[in-house]
Amino acid sequence: MSSTGTRASDNIINKNLEMISPSGIRKFFDILFSLDGVVSLGIGEPDFITPRHIRDAATYALEKGYTMYSSNYGLLELRQELAQHLKSHFHVGYDPEKEILITVGTSQGLDLALRATINPGDEVIIPDPCYVAYSPCIVLAGGVPVPVLTGIENNFSIKASDIEAHITSRTKSILIGYPSNPTGAIVPLDELNKIAEVAQKYNLVVISDEVYSRLVYGVTNNCFPSIPGTMDKTILIGGFSKTYAMTGWRIGYVAADRKFIEAMTRIHQYTMLCAPIMVQMAAIEALKHGEDDIKMMVNEYDKRRHLLVNGLNTIGLSCFEPSGAFYTFPSIASTGMTSDEFSERLLMEEKVAVIPGSAFGSGGEGFVRCSYATPLTNIEEALIRMSKFVKKHS
Ligand SMILES: Cc1ncc(COP(=O)(O)O)c(C=O)c1O
Repeated sequence: MSSTGTRASDNIINKNLEMISPSGIRKFFDILFSLDGVVSLGIGEPDFITPRHIRDAATYALEKGYTMYSSNYGLLELRQELAQHLKSHFHVGYDPEKEILITVGTSQGLDLALRATINPGDEVIIPDPCYVAYSPCIVLAGGVPVPVLTGIENNFSIKASDIEAHITSRTKSILIGYPSNPTGAIVPLDELNKIAEVAQKYNLVVISDEVYSRLVYGVTNNCFPSIPGTMDKTILIGGFSKTYAMTGWRIGYVAADRKFIEAMTRIHQYTMLCAPIMVQMAAIEALKHGEDDIKMMVNEYDKRRHLLVNGLNTIGLSCFEPSGAFYTFPSIASTGMTSDEFSERLLMEEKVAVIPGSAFGSGGEGFVRCSYATPLTNIEEALIRMSKFVKKHS
């Protein structure tokens, strides 16, 4: 019994969880699944099935009896393939033996990167709006998220000067995720250079979530650690979910200086041990022979992107042209509704699902996330219904 008469067992749930609100996305999926005939632009994952040869590699691994643990770091062959992939596509060199860790999705990489670097009360700068997991994962690691507003005037790309304006003596790191979920924005190279200068000036760690890095349209997406002088303080996280349509497989990676990889592996070895071995073997196949699949999917996403961006602008939901991922982020200002109200009424009145921008941070208010990870025919139908809705409510 403590001096105040309370016992640890009186609070059976971790207090940190009180600071985490349920995902604003979940709420919409709960409504969506209770309705018939919904056209969904709410999806956050590829609508493609994992390419056949990748599935075959996993089946073959199982047939051959690969059902055991791998090294904590992951199969060396996979790390070697990844090092090669990162070198040829992003111009960054990592030692596969000491600087790459295979994780259970980008999600685990994110969690490890935060837990391995945050001390209680450390502040982590994040863009606002951003991926829904950033803030909760920082809180769970004992840190304090510090959102930096991004806006349409800058096509939702974060600015180095805004980051600098939020730095305090408690700032530990900057967590960025570009191409962005929910906006599809990328950060131009000159701005990345400025962010790197700010990080160096204040000795900050940069955690760069590049899970969408291969899904870009007609532009070059610069990998953050490819900026000279940044590699020793940058943790690059990525995965196979979006690039190869492998969301359900749960496989990702972290690439960083060995001091970070050692720290993250210390957590990983006790909490996860390793990523599933047959999935790692499928990932090797994806890296070795998956380039044509990526091309095919990127071409298809690009067609849908054009249709959706043009369609949204035509019906009065003004939308900048996103360069990456598979999301558009139109303004709903013309309707005078909040993003929550817009999304709920659109779903109930016209049976089209979109995600309110506010689910991704206060900077997302006034916008909704529309995904084009869905066939062209669905996008056409969604636009017809949304046009009706906007005419009725503008
Ligand atoms: C920006 C971002 N990072 C990470 C993830 C999680 O990816 P994974 O499936 O590799 O864990 C997602 C999933 O939607 C995402 O949008």
